[in-house]
Amino acid sequence: MIPDVQDEQLKARVHDYWNADPCGTQFTHVERGSKEFYDEVERFRYTIQPFMEKLCKFKEFRGKKLLEVGCGLGTDTLQFARNGALTTGVDLTENSVAFAEKRFALYGVPGEFRTADAENLPFPDDTFDVVYSFGVLHHTPRTQTAINEVHRVVKSGGGQIVIMLYHKQSLHVWLGTLLFFLTGLLKGKWRTYDDWVRVYDGSENPLGKAYSRSELREMFAQFRNVRFAVCDPLRRHYPRFLNIINQKFFASWSGFWVMIYAEK
Ligand SMILES: C[S@@+](CC[C@H](N)C(=O)[O-])C[C@H]1O[C@@H](n2cnc3c(N)ncnc32)[C@H](O)[C@@H]1O
Repeated sequence: MIPDVQDEQLKARVHDYWNADPCGTQFTHVERGSKEFYDEVERFRYTIQPFMEKLCKFKEFRGKKLLEVGCGLGTDTLQFARNGALTTGVDLTENSVAFAEKRFALYGVPGEFRTADAENLPFPDDTFDVVYSFGVLHHTPRTQTAINEVHRVVKSGGGQIVIMLYHKQSLHVWLGTLLFFLTGLLKGKWRTYDDWVRVYDGSENPLGKAYSRSELREMFAQFRNVRFAVCDPLRRHYPRFLNIINQKFFASWSGFWVMIYAEK
């Protein structure tokens, strides 16, 4: 397990990376910030991953105060808000927050956004009924500190978390690491498992980590009733039949995403 490191330079690089190209913008060439752009980002995300509605519980938090940590363009935030949750989104990057704010304004959906660091959330203890975070906390240098912050701001006595992190025992990681290692050798580079996980989000991505379920049990030990669901994102660049085989036979036990559900 990669330990927490207080590394402000690394954090600044994480910020700069995601600020330059907020997550999701890469899936469309439509003019950024237009309604067509947001529609296209949304259509792409949920067409290729139709299982997200159930996995992320978009429809289960009507009337609840929900915080999304690392909201990116606010694509998932919007699903919760449309289904009646009272949403607040935070992201490390100003650009993501600006995109998300604009999106909610364009659609006339209420919701608050602010720039904030998951490792130091600007909210009092016990504020939210639900804290949601999808593919975020493995990109911050101090993942455990961020989990502690999630625990702090979610309400005692039943507040819920829905979190996705990268899963270590994944076919993609194993096969990807092997290929990456071998192609690296051809180029005279020693490329490891940690390198593969990092470049999964782009060759310039400064930080990415993956965890086993036993590591996650320790990291989320302060929560009650911790459950996991493993699944896999579809790969645009894989032949369709490979995606179908993967979803049918492997994704539920060796997928690259692990959802963590728990209560405080
Ligand atoms: C892979 S993107 C995911 C975005 C969004 N959750 C989604 O699924 O589209 C990772 C996001 O995490 C944000 N992030 C990284 N470190 C963070 C931190 N310490 N605090 C808040 N957000 C962070 C990045 O700015 C980026 O928007």
